[in-house]
Amino acid sequence: MNTTPTQSSVAAVIVLAAGGGTRMKSKRSKLLHAVAGRPMLSYAVDAARALEPRHLVVVVGHLREQVEAHLTEYCPEALTVEQPVRNGTGGAVAVGMAKLGDVQGEVVVTYGDVPMLNGETLKALVAAHRADQNSCTVLTAMIPDPTGYGRIVREEGQVARIVEHKDATETERVINEINSGIYVFDADLLRAGLPTLQPNNVQGELYVTDMIGYARGEGKRVGAFVTDDLWQTEGVNDRVQLARMNAEVNRRLVEHWMREGVTVLDPQTTWIEADVDLATDVTILPNTHLLGASSIATGAVIGPDTTLRDVEVGENARVVRCHGELAVIGPNAEVGPFARLRPGTVLGERGRIGTFVETKNAEIGAGSRIPHFGYVGDAYLGEGAYVGAGTTFANFDGQDRLPTHLGSHAFVGANSVLVAPIDIGDGAYVAAGSTITSDVPAGALAVARGQEHISEDWVQRKRTGSRSAAAAEAAVGEVHPKVAEARARVQDKTAGQPEAAEQQEAQQ
Ligand code: UD1
Ligand code: CA
Repeated sequence: MNTTPTQSSVAAVIVLAAGGGTRMKSKRSKLLHAVAGRPMLSYAVDAARALEPRHLVVVVGHLREQVEAHLTEYCPEALTVEQPVRNGTGGAVAVGMAKLGDVQGEVVVTYGDVPMLNGETLKALVAAHRADQNSCTVLTAMIPDPTGYGRIVREEGQVARIVEHKDATETERVINEINSGIYVFDADLLRAGLPTLQPNNVQGELYVTDMIGYARGEGKRVGAFVTDDLWQTEGVNDRVQLARMNAEVNRRLVEHWMREGVTVLDPQTTWIEADVDLATDVTILPNTHLLGASSIATGAVIGPDTTLRDVEVGENARVVRCHGELAVIGPNAEVGPFARLRPGTVLGERGRIGTFVETKNAEIGAGSRIPHFGYVGDAYLGEGAYVGAGTTFANFDGQDRLPTHLGSHAFVGANSVLVAPIDIGDGAYVAAGSTITSDVPAGALAVARGQEHISEDWVQRKRTGSRSAAAAEAAVGEVHPKVAEARARVQDKTAGQPEAAEQQEAQQ
Protein backbone atom coordinates (compact mmCIF):
# COMPACT_ATOMS: atom_id res chain seq x y z
CA MET A 1 0.00 0.00 0.00
CA ASN A 2 1.36 3.39 -0.91
CA THR A 3 -0.95 5.29 1.42
CA THR A 4 -0.11 5.85 5.07
CA PRO A 5 -3.45 6.15 6.83
CA THR A 6 -3.52 7.38 10.43
CA GLN A 7 -4.19 4.87 13.16
CA SER A 8 -7.86 4.43 12.28
CA SER A 9 -8.41 6.24 8.99
CA VAL A 10 -9.40 4.12 5.99
CA ALA A 11 -9.67 4.97 2.30
CA ALA A 12 -13.40 4.45 2.00
CA VAL A 13 -16.52 3.01 3.54
CA ILE A 14 -19.28 1.71 1.29
CA VAL A 15 -22.64 1.42 3.02
CA LEU A 16 -25.08 -0.89 1.22
CA ALA A 17 -28.55 0.57 1.44
CA ALA A 18 -30.32 -0.25 -1.81
CA GLY A 19 -32.46 -3.05 -0.43
CA GLY A 20 -36.21 -2.85 -0.57
CA GLY A 21 -37.17 -3.44 3.01
CA THR A 22 -40.33 -5.09 1.65
CA ARG A 23 -40.94 -7.00 4.87
CA MET A 24 -41.41 -3.71 6.73
CA LYS A 25 -44.55 -3.11 4.60
CA SER A 26 -43.96 0.61 4.86
CA LYS A 27 -44.13 3.71 2.68
CA ARG A 28 -41.07 4.86 4.56
CA SER A 29 -37.67 3.47 3.73
CA LYS A 30 -36.63 0.81 6.21
CA LEU A 31 -33.44 2.78 6.81
CA LEU A 32 -35.41 5.71 8.18
CA HIS A 33 -37.37 3.73 10.74
CA ALA A 34 -36.23 4.71 14.20
CA VAL A 35 -34.04 2.90 16.67
CA ALA A 36 -33.90 4.77 19.99
CA GLY A 37 -35.43 7.76 18.21
CA ARG A 38 -32.90 8.00 15.41
CA PRO A 39 -33.14 6.74 11.83
CA MET A 40 -31.46 3.36 11.47
CA LEU A 41 -29.15 4.68 8.76
CA SER A 42 -27.68 7.33 11.08
CA TYR A 43 -26.05 4.55 13.10
CA ALA A 44 -24.35 3.16 10.03
CA VAL A 45 -23.13 6.66 9.23
CA ASP A 46 -21.80 7.15 12.76
CA ALA A 47 -19.99 3.82 12.73
CA ALA A 48 -18.48 4.65 9.33
CA ARG A 49 -17.42 8.10 10.49
CA ALA A 50 -15.51 6.58 13.41
CA LEU A 51 -13.08 5.21 10.81
CA GLU A 52 -12.49 8.72 9.45
CA PRO A 53 -12.82 7.47 5.88
CA ARG A 54 -11.56 9.68 3.10
CA HIS A 55 -14.71 8.75 1.17
CA LEU A 56 -18.09 7.64 2.41
CA VAL A 57 -20.34 6.14 -0.24
CA VAL A 58 -23.92 5.03 0.32
CA VAL A 59 -25.42 2.73 -2.31
CA VAL A 60 -29.10 3.65 -2.60
CA GLY A 61 -32.01 2.22 -4.56
CA HIS A 62 -35.43 1.60 -3.09
CA LEU A 63 -37.04 4.91 -1.94
CA ARG A 64 -33.75 6.60 -2.67
CA GLU A 65 -35.19 10.15 -2.44
CA GLN A 66 -36.06 9.60 1.23
CA VAL A 67 -32.68 8.09 1.97
CA GLU A 68 -30.85 10.89 0.18
CA ALA A 69 -32.88 13.57 1.98
CA HIS A 70 -31.79 12.10 5.32
CA LEU A 71 -28.16 11.94 4.23
CA THR A 72 -28.17 15.53 2.95
CA GLU A 73 -29.14 16.60 6.44
CA TYR A 74 -27.30 14.12 8.61
CA CYS A 75 -24.22 13.36 6.57
CA PRO A 76 -23.62 15.92 3.85
CA GLU A 77 -20.16 14.51 3.13
CA ALA A 78 -21.64 11.18 2.01
CA LEU A 79 -21.68 10.45 -1.70
CA THR A 80 -24.69 8.51 -2.88
CA VAL A 81 -24.84 6.27 -5.89
CA GLU A 82 -27.80 4.40 -7.26
CA GLN A 83 -27.77 0.68 -7.85
CA PRO A 84 -30.15 0.57 -10.81
CA VAL A 85 -30.91 -3.14 -10.66
CA ARG A 86 -30.86 -4.95 -7.37
CA ASN A 87 -28.67 -7.77 -8.54
CA GLY A 88 -27.10 -8.67 -5.23
CA THR A 89 -24.54 -7.48 -2.72
CA GLY A 90 -21.73 -8.02 -5.24
CA GLY A 91 -23.49 -5.72 -7.69
CA ALA A 92 -24.03 -3.16 -4.96
CA VAL A 93 -20.36 -3.08 -3.96
CA ALA A 94 -19.37 -2.80 -7.63
CA VAL A 95 -21.58 0.28 -8.00
CA GLY A 96 -19.96 1.79 -4.90
CA MET A 97 -16.47 1.04 -6.22
CA ALA A 98 -17.30 2.65 -9.57
CA LYS A 99 -18.17 5.83 -7.69
CA LEU A 100 -14.81 5.70 -5.90
CA GLY A 101 -12.73 5.50 -9.07
CA ASP A 102 -9.12 4.51 -8.52
CA VAL A 103 -9.14 4.74 -4.73
CA GLN A 104 -6.24 2.92 -3.06
CA GLY A 105 -6.13 1.23 0.32
CA GLU A 106 -8.75 -0.19 2.64
CA VAL A 107 -12.39 -0.25 1.66
CA VAL A 108 -14.84 -1.17 4.42
CA VAL A 109 -18.22 -2.55 3.35
CA THR A 110 -21.14 -2.26 5.79
CA TYR A 111 -24.94 -2.29 5.74
CA GLY A 112 -27.37 0.52 6.43
CA ASP A 113 -29.73 -1.75 8.40
CA VAL A 114 -27.42 -3.03 11.15
CA PRO A 115 -27.97 -0.31 13.76
CA MET A 116 -26.03 -1.74 16.67
CA LEU A 117 -22.77 -2.12 14.80
CA ASN A 118 -20.54 0.57 16.24
CA GLY A 119 -17.33 2.36 15.39
CA GLU A 120 -15.34 0.44 18.00
CA THR A 121 -16.11 -2.86 16.31
CA LEU A 122 -15.25 -1.47 12.88
CA LYS A 123 -11.96 -0.13 14.26
CA ALA A 124 -11.16 -3.52 15.78
CA LEU A 125 -11.97 -5.18 12.45
CA VAL A 126 -9.64 -2.80 10.60
CA ALA A 127 -6.94 -3.31 13.25
CA ALA A 128 -7.15 -7.09 12.82
CA HIS A 129 -7.00 -6.65 9.03
CA ARG A 130 -3.82 -4.62 9.37
CA ALA A 131 -2.21 -6.79 12.00
CA ASP A 132 -2.66 -9.90 9.87
CA GLN A 133 -1.78 -8.04 6.64
CA ASN A 134 -4.89 -9.42 5.00
CA SER A 135 -6.32 -8.42 1.69
CA CYS A 136 -9.76 -9.23 3.04
CA THR A 137 -11.10 -9.53 6.60
CA VAL A 138 -14.66 -10.46 7.38
CA LEU A 139 -16.55 -9.71 10.60
CA THR A 140 -18.08 -12.94 11.88
CA ALA A 141 -19.98 -14.18 14.93
CA MET A 142 -20.73 -17.55 16.47
CA ILE A 143 -24.46 -17.83 16.83
CA PRO A 144 -26.63 -20.64 18.19
CA ASP A 145 -29.19 -20.49 15.37
CA PRO A 146 -27.41 -19.49 12.17
CA THR A 147 -30.42 -20.14 9.90
CA GLY A 148 -30.55 -17.68 7.00
CA TYR A 149 -27.03 -16.36 7.33
CA GLY A 150 -24.04 -17.00 5.13
CA ARG A 151 -21.69 -19.54 6.78
CA ILE A 152 -17.93 -19.19 7.16
CA VAL A 153 -16.31 -22.29 5.71
CA ARG A 154 -12.84 -22.81 7.16
CA GLU A 155 -10.16 -25.16 5.96
CA GLU A 156 -7.44 -26.00 8.48
CA GLY A 157 -8.69 -23.08 10.56
CA GLN A 158 -8.32 -20.59 7.71
CA VAL A 159 -11.33 -18.85 6.14
CA ALA A 160 -11.76 -20.54 2.78
CA ARG A 161 -15.08 -19.21 1.50
CA ILE A 162 -18.57 -18.14 2.46
CA VAL A 163 -21.63 -20.15 1.50
CA GLU A 164 -25.13 -18.70 1.66
CA HIS A 165 -27.71 -20.60 3.67
CA LYS A 166 -29.79 -21.22 0.57
CA ASP A 167 -26.80 -22.67 -1.29
CA ALA A 168 -25.34 -24.61 1.63
CA THR A 169 -25.17 -28.37 2.02
CA GLU A 170 -26.46 -30.09 5.15
CA THR A 171 -22.91 -30.27 6.54
CA GLU A 172 -22.29 -26.59 5.82
CA ARG A 173 -25.56 -25.62 7.51
CA VAL A 174 -24.25 -27.09 10.76
CA ILE A 175 -21.55 -24.39 10.84
CA ASN A 176 -22.54 -21.70 13.26
CA GLU A 177 -19.89 -19.12 12.46
CA ILE A 178 -21.85 -16.63 10.36
CA ASN A 179 -20.98 -13.84 7.98
CA SER A 180 -22.10 -10.46 9.32
CA GLY A 181 -21.82 -8.98 5.83
CA ILE A 182 -19.26 -6.47 7.05
CA TYR A 183 -15.77 -6.60 5.57
CA VAL A 184 -12.52 -4.78 4.95
CA PHE A 185 -11.13 -5.26 1.45
CA ASP A 186 -8.06 -4.03 -0.27
CA ALA A 187 -9.37 -1.76 -3.05
CA ASP A 188 -7.27 -3.48 -5.73
CA LEU A 189 -8.65 -6.86 -4.73
CA LEU A 190 -12.21 -5.58 -5.19
CA ARG A 191 -11.41 -4.02 -8.55
CA ALA A 192 -9.89 -7.26 -9.78
CA GLY A 193 -12.44 -9.63 -8.23
CA LEU A 194 -15.83 -7.98 -8.60
CA PRO A 195 -15.94 -8.29 -12.42
CA THR A 196 -15.37 -12.03 -12.07
CA LEU A 197 -18.45 -12.65 -9.89
CA GLN A 198 -21.09 -14.90 -11.46
CA PRO A 199 -24.73 -15.33 -10.43
CA ASN A 200 -24.29 -19.10 -10.17
CA ASN A 201 -26.41 -19.57 -7.10
CA VAL A 202 -29.94 -20.29 -5.97
CA GLN A 203 -30.87 -16.59 -5.92
CA GLY A 204 -29.24 -15.76 -9.27
CA GLU A 205 -27.48 -12.80 -7.65
CA LEU A 206 -23.95 -11.47 -7.60
CA TYR A 207 -22.67 -12.30 -4.13
CA VAL A 208 -19.96 -10.15 -2.56
CA THR A 209 -19.35 -13.17 -0.34
CA ASP A 210 -17.78 -14.91 -3.34
CA MET A 211 -14.93 -12.40 -3.05
CA ILE A 212 -13.56 -14.50 -0.19
CA GLY A 213 -13.15 -17.59 -2.32
CA TYR A 214 -11.78 -15.40 -5.11
CA ALA A 215 -9.12 -13.89 -2.84
CA ARG A 216 -8.07 -17.32 -1.61
CA GLY A 217 -7.84 -18.53 -5.20
CA GLU A 218 -5.49 -15.64 -5.95
CA GLY A 219 -3.32 -16.68 -3.02
CA LYS A 220 -4.26 -13.65 -0.91
CA ARG A 221 -4.49 -13.58 2.86
CA VAL A 222 -8.05 -13.72 4.11
CA GLY A 223 -9.03 -13.49 7.75
CA ALA A 224 -11.98 -13.26 10.07
CA PHE A 225 -12.57 -11.08 13.09
CA VAL A 226 -15.04 -12.71 15.45
CA THR A 227 -17.20 -10.40 17.55
CA ASP A 228 -18.80 -11.68 20.73
CA ASP A 229 -21.49 -9.00 20.73
CA LEU A 230 -24.01 -10.81 18.54
CA TRP A 231 -26.35 -7.83 18.43
CA GLN A 232 -23.77 -5.91 16.43
CA THR A 233 -24.27 -8.15 13.45
CA GLU A 234 -28.06 -8.20 13.72
CA GLY A 235 -29.98 -6.66 10.83
CA VAL A 236 -33.53 -5.35 10.81
CA ASN A 237 -35.81 -6.76 8.16
CA ASP A 238 -39.27 -6.46 9.69
CA ARG A 239 -41.06 -4.70 12.51
CA VAL A 240 -40.71 -7.63 14.88
CA GLN A 241 -36.93 -7.40 14.59
CA LEU A 242 -37.21 -3.61 14.85
CA ALA A 243 -39.02 -3.91 18.19
CA ARG A 244 -36.49 -6.42 19.48
CA MET A 245 -33.67 -4.14 18.42
CA ASN A 246 -35.26 -1.12 20.07
CA ALA A 247 -35.72 -3.07 23.29
CA GLU A 248 -32.08 -4.11 23.33
CA VAL A 249 -30.73 -0.65 22.44
CA ASN A 250 -32.94 0.84 25.13
CA ARG A 251 -31.82 -1.74 27.67
CA ARG A 252 -28.21 -0.75 26.98
CA LEU A 253 -28.93 2.98 27.09
CA VAL A 254 -30.77 2.67 30.41
CA GLU A 255 -27.92 0.58 31.78
CA HIS A 256 -25.41 3.14 30.52
CA TRP A 257 -27.20 5.96 32.35
CA MET A 258 -27.48 3.94 35.55
CA ARG A 259 -23.72 3.43 35.42
CA GLU A 260 -23.37 7.19 34.94
CA GLY A 261 -25.19 7.84 38.22
CA VAL A 262 -28.86 7.97 37.24
CA THR A 263 -31.38 6.13 39.42
CA VAL A 264 -33.89 4.22 37.29
CA LEU A 265 -36.58 2.63 39.37
CA ASP A 266 -37.98 0.40 36.65
CA PRO A 267 -35.66 -0.17 33.68
CA GLN A 268 -38.35 -2.28 31.97
CA THR A 269 -40.72 0.65 31.53
CA THR A 270 -38.16 3.40 31.07
CA TRP A 271 -37.33 4.50 27.53
CA ILE A 272 -34.39 6.76 26.91
CA GLU A 273 -33.60 7.75 23.34
CA ALA A 274 -30.09 7.99 21.98
CA ASP A 275 -29.73 11.78 22.02
CA VAL A 276 -30.98 12.31 25.57
CA ASP A 277 -28.55 13.69 28.14
CA LEU A 278 -28.83 12.98 31.86
CA ALA A 279 -26.81 14.30 34.79
CA THR A 280 -25.79 12.36 37.86
CA ASP A 281 -28.38 11.94 40.61
CA VAL A 282 -31.31 12.24 38.26
CA THR A 283 -34.12 9.91 39.34
CA ILE A 284 -36.44 8.34 36.77
CA LEU A 285 -39.66 6.77 38.01
CA PRO A 286 -41.63 4.05 36.14
CA ASN A 287 -43.29 4.52 32.76
CA THR A 288 -41.15 7.44 31.71
CA HIS A 289 -40.13 8.20 28.12
CA LEU A 290 -37.27 10.62 27.61
CA LEU A 291 -37.16 11.39 23.91
CA GLY A 292 -35.43 13.50 21.30
CA ALA A 293 -32.80 15.87 22.63
CA SER A 294 -34.20 16.07 26.15
CA SER A 295 -31.74 16.90 28.92
CA ILE A 296 -32.22 16.52 32.64
CA ALA A 297 -30.05 18.29 35.22
CA THR A 298 -28.82 16.84 38.48
CA GLY A 299 -31.22 16.15 41.29
CA ALA A 300 -34.32 16.26 39.10
CA VAL A 301 -36.98 13.60 39.60
CA ILE A 302 -38.96 12.61 36.51
CA GLY A 303 -42.10 10.48 36.47
CA PRO A 304 -43.91 8.31 36.98
CA ASP A 305 -45.91 8.25 33.72
CA THR A 306 -44.10 11.06 31.97
CA THR A 307 -43.16 11.65 28.35
CA LEU A 308 -40.73 14.42 27.54
CA ARG A 309 -39.61 15.17 23.99
CA ASP A 310 -36.92 17.82 23.50
CA VAL A 311 -37.48 19.13 27.00
CA GLU A 312 -34.77 20.69 29.15
CA VAL A 313 -35.25 20.13 32.87
CA GLY A 314 -33.28 22.14 35.44
CA GLU A 315 -31.65 21.01 38.67
CA ASN A 316 -33.84 19.51 41.36
CA ALA A 317 -37.01 20.05 39.35
CA ARG A 318 -39.88 17.63 39.92
CA VAL A 319 -41.95 16.47 36.93
CA VAL A 320 -44.86 14.11 37.66
CA ARG A 321 -47.26 12.55 35.11
CA CYS A 322 -46.46 15.12 32.48
CA HIS A 323 -46.50 15.21 28.68
CA GLY A 324 -44.02 17.80 27.49
CA GLU A 325 -42.59 18.84 24.15
CA LEU A 326 -40.01 21.52 23.22
CA ALA A 327 -40.21 23.07 26.65
CA VAL A 328 -37.86 24.28 29.36
CA ILE A 329 -38.48 23.56 33.04
CA GLY A 330 -36.36 25.66 35.36
CA PRO A 331 -34.35 24.60 38.40
CA ASN A 332 -36.44 23.65 41.45
CA ALA A 333 -39.62 24.01 39.43
CA GLU A 334 -42.57 21.67 39.92
CA VAL A 335 -44.73 20.29 37.15
CA GLY A 336 -47.79 18.07 37.34
CA PRO A 337 -49.31 15.74 38.11
CA PHE A 338 -51.28 15.69 34.83
CA ALA A 339 -49.72 18.66 33.10
CA ARG A 340 -49.29 19.19 29.38
CA LEU A 341 -46.43 21.41 28.30
CA ARG A 342 -46.65 22.27 24.63
CA PRO A 343 -43.86 23.81 22.54
CA GLY A 344 -42.53 27.14 23.69
CA THR A 345 -43.27 26.65 27.37
CA VAL A 346 -40.46 28.10 29.49
CA LEU A 347 -41.02 27.72 33.21
CA GLY A 348 -38.71 29.77 35.42
CA GLU A 349 -36.85 28.76 38.51
CA ARG A 350 -39.13 27.57 41.34
CA GLY A 351 -42.13 27.98 39.04
CA ARG A 352 -45.11 25.70 39.27
CA ILE A 353 -47.39 24.23 36.63
CA GLY A 354 -49.89 22.07 38.44
CA THR A 355 -52.70 19.62 37.94
CA PHE A 356 -54.57 19.64 34.62
CA VAL A 357 -52.78 22.69 33.32
CA GLU A 358 -51.98 23.09 29.61
CA THR A 359 -49.38 25.60 28.52
CA LYS A 360 -48.20 26.61 25.06
CA ASN A 361 -45.76 29.30 24.02
CA ALA A 362 -45.69 30.56 27.57
CA GLU A 363 -42.78 32.28 29.26
CA ILE A 364 -43.38 31.94 32.96
CA GLY A 365 -41.06 33.88 35.24
CA ALA A 366 -39.26 32.66 38.34
CA GLY A 367 -41.54 31.59 41.16
CA SER A 368 -44.73 32.11 39.17
CA ARG A 369 -47.46 29.55 39.81
CA ILE A 370 -50.35 28.04 37.89
CA PRO A 371 -51.18 25.34 40.42
CA HIS A 372 -54.60 24.10 39.27
CA PHE A 373 -56.41 23.38 36.01
CA GLY A 374 -56.26 26.03 33.33
CA TYR A 375 -54.90 27.04 29.92
CA VAL A 376 -51.97 29.39 29.51
CA GLY A 377 -51.10 30.13 25.87
CA ASP A 378 -49.08 32.88 24.16
CA ALA A 379 -48.39 34.22 27.61
CA TYR A 380 -45.64 36.29 29.16
CA LEU A 381 -45.63 36.07 32.94
CA GLY A 382 -43.30 38.04 35.18
CA GLU A 383 -41.89 36.69 38.42
CA GLY A 384 -43.97 35.57 41.37
CA ALA A 385 -47.28 35.85 39.53
CA TYR A 386 -50.21 33.65 40.60
CA VAL A 387 -52.85 32.26 38.28
CA GLY A 388 -55.87 30.90 40.12
CA ALA A 389 -57.65 27.62 39.42
CA GLY A 390 -59.53 27.32 36.16
CA THR A 391 -58.14 30.45 34.57
CA THR A 392 -58.03 30.60 30.79
CA PHE A 393 -55.76 32.74 28.72
CA ALA A 394 -58.11 33.34 25.76
CA ASN A 395 -55.38 33.66 23.14
CA PHE A 396 -57.31 32.77 19.99
CA ASP A 397 -59.94 35.04 18.49
CA GLY A 398 -60.89 32.55 15.81
CA GLN A 399 -58.21 33.83 13.44
CA ASP A 400 -55.08 34.91 15.24
CA ARG A 401 -53.10 33.81 18.29
CA LEU A 402 -52.72 36.83 20.54
CA PRO A 403 -50.46 37.53 23.52
CA THR A 404 -51.17 38.19 27.18
CA HIS A 405 -48.76 39.83 29.59
CA LEU A 406 -49.18 39.19 33.29
CA GLY A 407 -46.82 41.31 35.37
CA SER A 408 -44.61 40.27 38.25
CA HIS A 409 -46.46 39.46 41.47
CA ALA A 410 -49.78 39.94 39.73
CA PHE A 411 -52.68 37.83 41.03
CA VAL A 412 -55.46 36.32 38.97
CA GLY A 413 -58.42 34.97 40.93
CA ALA A 414 -59.94 31.60 40.12
CA ASN A 415 -61.98 30.98 37.01
CA SER A 416 -60.97 34.14 35.22
CA VAL A 417 -60.74 34.64 31.46
CA LEU A 418 -58.01 36.93 30.19
CA VAL A 419 -59.00 37.93 26.66
CA ALA A 420 -55.87 38.60 24.56
CA PRO A 421 -54.25 40.83 23.51
CA ILE A 422 -54.13 42.18 27.00
CA ASP A 423 -51.67 43.54 29.52
CA ILE A 424 -52.06 43.07 33.26
CA GLY A 425 -49.49 45.18 35.06
CA ASP A 426 -47.04 44.32 37.82
CA GLY A 427 -48.71 43.68 41.13
CA ALA A 428 -52.23 44.00 39.66
CA TYR A 429 -55.13 41.89 40.93
CA VAL A 430 -57.94 40.29 38.95
CA ALA A 431 -60.98 39.28 40.99
CA ALA A 432 -62.10 35.65 40.84
CA GLY A 433 -64.59 34.88 38.09
CA SER A 434 -63.68 37.92 35.97
CA THR A 435 -63.59 38.12 32.21
CA ILE A 436 -60.96 40.75 31.52
CA THR A 437 -61.01 42.55 28.17
CA SER A 438 -59.13 45.77 28.91
CA ASP A 439 -55.65 46.31 30.30
CA VAL A 440 -55.26 46.37 34.06
CA PRO A 441 -52.66 48.94 35.17
CA ALA A 442 -49.93 48.01 37.63
CA GLY A 443 -51.28 47.75 41.14
CA ALA A 444 -54.98 48.02 40.10
CA LEU A 445 -57.79 45.63 40.97
CA ALA A 446 -60.07 44.56 38.14
CA VAL A 447 -63.46 43.06 38.91
CA ALA A 448 -65.62 41.96 35.99
CA ARG A 449 -68.38 39.62 37.07
CA GLY A 450 -72.17 39.55 37.63
CA GLN A 451 -73.54 41.02 40.84
CA GLU A 452 -74.50 38.51 43.53
CA HIS A 453 -78.18 38.58 44.50
CA ILE A 454 -79.39 36.94 47.75
CA SER A 455 -83.06 35.89 47.91
CA GLU A 456 -83.75 35.23 51.61
CA ASP A 457 -85.77 32.07 52.49
CA TRP A 458 -86.05 31.10 48.81
CA VAL A 459 -85.69 27.38 49.66
CA GLN A 460 -88.45 27.36 52.25
CA ARG A 461 -90.77 29.06 49.76
CA LYS A 462 -89.83 27.23 46.55
CA ARG A 463 -88.66 23.86 47.88
CA THR A 464 -91.12 23.44 50.70
CA GLY A 465 -90.83 20.08 52.47
CA SER A 466 -87.47 19.22 50.92
CA ARG A 467 -84.44 18.07 52.87
CA SER A 468 -82.82 21.36 51.96
CA ALA A 469 -85.73 23.25 53.47
CA ALA A 470 -85.55 21.15 56.64
CA ALA A 471 -81.82 21.77 56.91
CA ALA A 472 -82.37 25.50 56.41
CA GLU A 473 -85.05 25.48 59.09
CA ALA A 474 -82.67 23.82 61.57
CA ALA A 475 -79.73 26.10 60.75
CA VAL A 476 -78.36 28.26 63.55
CA GLY A 477 -77.84 31.04 61.04
CA GLU A 478 -74.19 31.63 61.78
CA VAL A 479 -71.30 31.37 59.30
CA HIS A 480 -69.02 28.39 59.76
CA PRO A 481 -66.32 29.15 62.34
CA LYS A 482 -63.50 28.48 59.84
CA VAL A 483 -64.99 31.03 57.45
CA ALA A 484 -65.70 33.54 60.18
CA GLU A 485 -62.19 33.19 61.48
CA ALA A 486 -60.63 33.66 58.02
CA ARG A 487 -62.85 36.67 57.31
CA ALA A 488 -61.78 38.30 60.55
CA ARG A 489 -58.16 37.68 59.64
CA VAL A 490 -58.58 39.22 56.17
CA GLN A 491 -60.45 42.22 57.60
CA ASP A 492 -57.71 42.82 60.15
CA LYS A 493 -55.14 42.89 57.41
CA THR A 494 -57.06 45.35 55.25
CA ALA A 495 -58.58 47.50 58.06
CA GLY A 496 -58.36 51.19 57.36
CA GLN A 497 -57.72 50.68 53.65
CA PRO A 498 -60.42 52.18 51.43
CA GLU A 499 -60.53 49.23 49.00
CA ALA A 500 -60.86 46.62 51.72
CA ALA A 501 -64.08 45.23 50.27
CA GLU A 502 -62.61 45.03 46.81
CA GLN A 503 -59.55 43.24 48.07
CA GLN A 504 -61.77 40.66 49.65
CA GLU A 505 -63.48 40.15 46.34
CA ALA A 506 -60.18 39.40 44.75
CA GLN A 507 -59.63 36.40 46.99
CA GLN A 508 -60.33 33.20 45.14
C1 UD1 B 1 -26.08 -11.13 3.33
C2 UD1 B 1 -24.88 -12.01 3.05
C3 UD1 B 1 -24.84 -13.14 4.08
C4 UD1 B 1 -24.80 -12.55 5.48
C5 UD1 B 1 -25.96 -11.57 5.69
C6 UD1 B 1 -25.78 -10.86 7.00
C7 UD1 B 1 -24.53 -11.97 0.64
C8 UD1 B 1 -24.71 -12.70 -0.63
N1 UD1 B 1 -24.99 -12.56 1.73
O1 UD1 B 1 -27.22 -11.92 3.14
O2 UD1 B 1 -23.73 -13.94 3.88
O3 UD1 B 1 -24.86 -13.57 6.44
O4 UD1 B 1 -25.97 -10.60 4.64
O5 UD1 B 1 -26.88 -10.04 7.25
O6 UD1 B 1 -23.97 -10.92 0.63
N2 UD1 B 1 -28.20 -4.84 -0.79
C9 UD1 B 1 -28.07 -3.89 -1.77
N3 UD1 B 1 -28.22 -4.25 -3.08
C10 UD1 B 1 -28.48 -5.52 -3.45
C11 UD1 B 1 -28.64 -6.49 -2.45
C12 UD1 B 1 -28.48 -6.13 -1.13
O7 UD1 B 1 -27.82 -2.73 -1.47
O8 UD1 B 1 -28.60 -5.75 -4.66
C13 UD1 B 1 -28.05 -4.46 0.59
C14 UD1 B 1 -29.34 -4.57 1.38
O9 UD1 B 1 -30.01 -3.32 1.40
C15 UD1 B 1 -28.88 -4.95 2.76
C16 UD1 B 1 -27.58 -5.71 2.52
O10 UD1 B 1 -27.15 -5.33 1.23
O11 UD1 B 1 -28.60 -3.83 3.56
C17 UD1 B 1 -27.75 -7.19 2.67
O12 UD1 B 1 -28.65 -7.65 1.72
P1 UD1 B 1 -29.59 -8.87 1.98
O13 UD1 B 1 -30.32 -9.17 0.75
O14 UD1 B 1 -30.37 -8.64 3.22
O15 UD1 B 1 -28.51 -10.02 2.24
P2 UD1 B 1 -28.73 -11.35 3.01
O16 UD1 B 1 -29.48 -12.29 2.17
O17 UD1 B 1 -29.25 -11.06 4.37
CA1 CA C 1 -30.41 -9.06 5.62
